[in-house]
Amino acid sequence: MKITAFSAVLASALAMVPAAFAESTCDQFSPCYREGYCNVNAAFCLYGLCVPSKSYNSTSCWPAEGCASQTVNFDKSNDIISIYKYSGDASQNAFLSIFDPDNTAINNGNLELSMKYNAAQKAGFGATADASHTIKYGKVTARVKTASIAKGVVSSFIIRDDNTGDEIDFEWVGLSPNQVQTNYYANNVIDYTKMVPYDLGVDTSAAYHDYEINWTADSIVWSVDGKPIRTLKKADTYNAATNTYSFPSSEARIAFSIWDGGSGAQGTADWAGHPTPWNADTVYKMYVDSAEESSAVASSSELNSKSAAESSAADASTGAATATGAPATDAATATGAPGH
Ligand SMILES: *[C@@H]1O[C@H](CO)[C@@H](O)[C@H](O)[C@H]1NC(C)=O
Ligand SMILES: *[C@@H]1O[C@H](CO)[C@@H](O)[C@H](O)[C@H]1NC(C)=O
Repeated sequence: MKITAFSAVLASALAMVPAAFAESTCDQFSPCYREGYCNVNAAFCLYGLCVPSKSYNSTSCWPAEGCASQTVNFDKSNDIISIYKYSGDASQNAFLSIFDPDNTAINNGNLELSMKYNAAQKAGFGATADASHTIKYGKVTARVKTASIAKGVVSSFIIRDDNTGDEIDFEWVGLSPNQVQTNYYANNVIDYTKMVPYDLGVDTSAAYHDYEINWTADSIVWSVDGKPIRTLKKADTYNAATNTYSFPSSEARIAFSIWDGGSGAQGTADWAGHPTPWNADTVYKMYVDSAEESSAVASSSELNSKSAAESSAADASTGAATATGAPATDAATATGAPGH
């Protein structure tokens, strides 16, 4: 499940600006609406995060970037950038680190997502990397070495659209280091009962494995090291009472995340294992060697390139949003709080 520590970050950002914008009142200077606040940078304007109906006008939210296919090997330092520094040019940065502080790094050709102890919150503060491109259907494969070296540590590789809550998951919990769990969500319904565990027979934190999601309009197939482990057919998600399918179908982003489930709410902690072992200098890491995406639908042929003026405006807001130091603390609380 996607972790959202965003409100806390936004609340802090909001404290730095003189006028607090209420819902649906974003103006031309802070046109993009997200989770109750308005601003002008990528953290607010990115497709899927930004809510068009509540933004300044119907074109204020940035359009979907789209993606035909790409392989990211994490061999370039700009393969990931903080979303607060992101210009909007998806061709420059394949992934966006969405939390502050930014606990992502590229080392030795791998993306590293770290989780460190936040003493004030008595919980770990992790990291999330969202793709700067969207996909709609298609196949994604990631080579991942998990952080399942201790109870409570959760690693994830998902495809998600924040607006609809459509989501397709691989998740690993420290409680069960040999296991990967698959799940999906649709229409913002949080239903944990669809989770299916798979035992790799080896420790997922010991070596890289290929985790693949083949997502079509009719089915989702999850595979590990080329072997299909689960198939979900859209037809089987039909609910006659509501005449709807609970099948993810929104244009979405792939995301990698590490977070502290063991220090969270009871249900989450029971699922992830607890307590998460922490010393002041403990660092847990999840590694991604490569991420390969091929989208069935390239929603826009042009990458979304923002103008220089918009880019510098984004940078200016970044300073405000990150100046307080408070988001880390607040976000850590939020990070531990949600269910899985
Ligand atoms: C819509 O808002 C954007 C800023 O978000 C602005 O650049 C654009 O000119 C506006 N369009 C109209 C038709 O007002
Ligand atoms: C993905 O799944 C679809 C439907 O099952 C199948 O036709 C297609 O060949 C699969 N693609 C890959 C690359 O495995």
